[in-house]
Amino acid sequence: MSASGSEVSSGVADSGAAATTTTTTTNNVLKKVFPDVDLDGHNLPPSPAPSSPRTGRRYALATELVYTEGNDQYNASSVPIYQLTGDTSGAGGGEYDYTRSGNPTRTHLERHLAKIMSAQRALVVSSGMAALDVITRLLHPGDEVVTGDDLYGGTHRLLKYLTTHGGIVVHHVDTTRPECVQAVLNSKTAMVLLETPTNPLIKIVDIPKVAALAHKANPNCLVVVDNTMMSPLLLNPLELGADIVYESGTKYLSGHHDLMAGVIAVNDAALGERLYFPINASGCGLSPFDSWLLMRGVKTLKVRMEQQQANAQRIAEFLESHGFKVRYPGLRSHPQYELHHSMARGAGAVLSFETGDVALSERIVESAKLWAISVSFGCVNSLISMPCRMSHASIDAKTRQERAMPEDLIRLCVGIEDVDDLIDDLRRALVQAGAVNVSLDDFQAVNQASTASESNSTIISLLDN
Ligand SMILES: Cc1ncc(COP(=O)(O)O)c(C=O)c1O
Repeated sequence: MSASGSEVSSGVADSGAAATTTTTTTNNVLKKVFPDVDLDGHNLPPSPAPSSPRTGRRYALATELVYTEGNDQYNASSVPIYQLTGDTSGAGGGEYDYTRSGNPTRTHLERHLAKIMSAQRALVVSSGMAALDVITRLLHPGDEVVTGDDLYGGTHRLLKYLTTHGGIVVHHVDTTRPECVQAVLNSKTAMVLLETPTNPLIKIVDIPKVAALAHKANPNCLVVVDNTMMSPLLLNPLELGADIVYESGTKYLSGHHDLMAGVIAVNDAALGERLYFPINASGCGLSPFDSWLLMRGVKTLKVRMEQQQANAQRIAEFLESHGFKVRYPGLRSHPQYELHHSMARGAGAVLSFETGDVALSERIVESAKLWAISVSFGCVNSLISMPCRMSHASIDAKTRQERAMPEDLIRLCVGIEDVDDLIDDLRRALVQAGAVNVSLDDFQAVNQASTASESNSTIISLLDN
């Protein structure tokens, strides 16, 4: 090594004021001998971008979430924020020559997410809806999309826009029943767009079965799954037959409601390039600072989600035991309990329940204190909402009725607080709202279970429990 090194050195010395070609040749030789040495003399690595998915050993997800490989020049344990990159060398065309096209902080996050989502490539954009916007740019006028009838309202709005402005034909069917999907599939079906569990009715889609049907009807059909409700901790749709997975990074991936982001993941490299094109062309790539924030949030996904899920289970059981109709895949009473657990590693932390009366539901939502009223979910704080009034209000009332969405439905997105405090607060809200008949030793939903007769029930205060 030292021998060849001195040979090269003498070569450099001999060249003196040699012509450019000699210098280039010498530099090439030097590069071969000392591949890690920067010829300009500072010997710094080019960017912090590694954390690539397929190098070396794969660890358990808990480890992968936290562990990142980087080659930062100062060995920073947190990826640096390259707020804006611009190639000042004049050569142009490099990976990071302009932040809209590529940014080292964003790339670091994308590679980290690809690893966690079991994908070959992940792309991060400015919101979950931006992710779906990018994905739907793969469609052409005349293409048909098959999707659910219990969808996130924003997804419904974007698809409606595409039908009126983009010549796309959208079929809304009950995707939790494969035969309903089969009935509308044909050779023009370019995309099947799935959410599971559906939101807010918490119904389960059989991803492998629907993906197989879609690919049979049209081998080029793209099966797309919105995995926001589950997160990569609990579900890997790419391993179940999906071609594209996307998530709102605003939710569990970041976990703190302090940023907006969307993530798209694929295994097909060519498809990844087709998705990258509109991101670069329109400039919806995630900003460097938000990329950094999302990177920070992702590291605690497992501890947050596990706590949220354990709390959600207790709360679902609490509500069910007091006579409310509860929708949560962690409950044995969920009609698709087995199907959900055949695909997922947990039930998640979103549940919904009915009170039988819209005004009653409104009073419960307003009476809760620890439960913040919010249309979102996935945050460390517990949230409560009425989907038909809030997150799904963009679906008109007639359509909501056709899709059997109960107007009184309350959605709970459970956080990491002490579960007994959460239950106490909910119990107080139920009592204050008049949603339960209270007897000396129990209380039951007024509109659901066989309630204790008026004469036997003694109203006692549970407010201080
Ligand atoms: C299931 C689901 N998908 C996508 C989105 C859109 O995400 P974003 O708000 O980050 O655009 C949401 C937002 O609430 C959602 O609930």
